[in-house]
Amino acid sequence: MDDALTFDQPAFDGPTLDRPAVDRPTVDRPTVRIRRERPGDPADVAAVRAVTVAAFPTDAEARLLDALRAAGDCDPARSLLAEADGSVVGHALLTAMILERPDGTRDADRIVALGPVSVTPEWQKRGIGGELVRAALAQAEREGAAAVVLLGHPTYYPRFGFRPAREQGLLPPASWPDAAWMACRLPAWTPLDAGVVHYARAFMEME
Ligand SMILES: CC(C)(COP(=O)(O)OP(=O)(O)OC[C@H]1O[C@@H](n2cnc3c(N)ncnc32)[C@H](O)[C@@H]1OP(=O)(O)O)[C@@H](O)C(=O)NCCC(=O)NCCS
Repeated sequence: MDDALTFDQPAFDGPTLDRPAVDRPTVDRPTVRIRRERPGDPADVAAVRAVTVAAFPTDAEARLLDALRAAGDCDPARSLLAEADGSVVGHALLTAMILERPDGTRDADRIVALGPVSVTPEWQKRGIGGELVRAALAQAEREGAAAVVLLGHPTYYPRFGFRPAREQGLLPPASWPDAAWMACRLPAWTPLDAGVVHYARAFMEME
C-alpha cells in the first residue's frame, strides 16, 4: 500500500473553522506531501526526531517520542510526516487516549490526542503546521474518533476548530490550564464521549 495519505473525503474543515487555509496568502507555499511513518524505518524515526529537536527549545518532546516508541504507544500509522523538497520538515502524532466516563466506564477508542506537532524552524509559517493539523483531524475522523484533544497554544489551534475542552465535557488528567487544554469534536461525537481523558504514561512523566 502506498504510504502517502490519500483522502477520499475532503480534509476536515468543519463549520467552526475560523479562517480557511485556502484564503491564506499563497506566497512561498511549498508543495508539501503528508504521509504516514513507514513502520520500522529507522530513517523515518531519525527524521522525526531531528525535526522535533529542531522545533522545540529543549529535547523534552524528542525524549517524549522516544519514550512513547519504547512503550509501544507510537503507532506509525498515526505518525504523520510532512515532506517538502524531498525532506521531512514536519511531524504530527496522534495517540490513543483512555476516556473515563462519569459512570466509571472506560473506552480506548473514542478520544485521540494530537501532539507533539513540529515544523523545522526554517520551514515554519508556510502553512505546513496547518496541513499537518488538518491531516491529523481528517485521519481521526476517518478512524471514527469522537474528538481530538491537545495541550497547545490557545491562539494557534482555534483556527482548526479546537475549543476549550472542559467546556465540551472533556476533563484533563491533571490541572492543566483551561485555555491550553483544547478539543475538536468530530462528527462521531456523542454525549457519551464526555469524561476524564487519560494520556499514555510517557506524556504524564514528561519533564
Ligand atoms: C506551531 C508550529 C507547529 C506551527 O507550524 P507552522 O508550519 O509554522 O504553522 P503554519 O504556517 O500553518 O501557521 C503559522 C501560524 O502559527 C502561529 N504560531 C506558531 N507558533 C505559535 C505559538 N507558539 N503560539 C501561537 N501561534 C503560533 C504563527 O504565528 C502563524 O500565525 P499566523 O498564521 O496568524 O501568522 C511550529 O511553529 C512549531 O513547530 N513550533 C515549535 C514547536 C511547537 O510549539 N509545537 C506546538 C506544540 S503545541
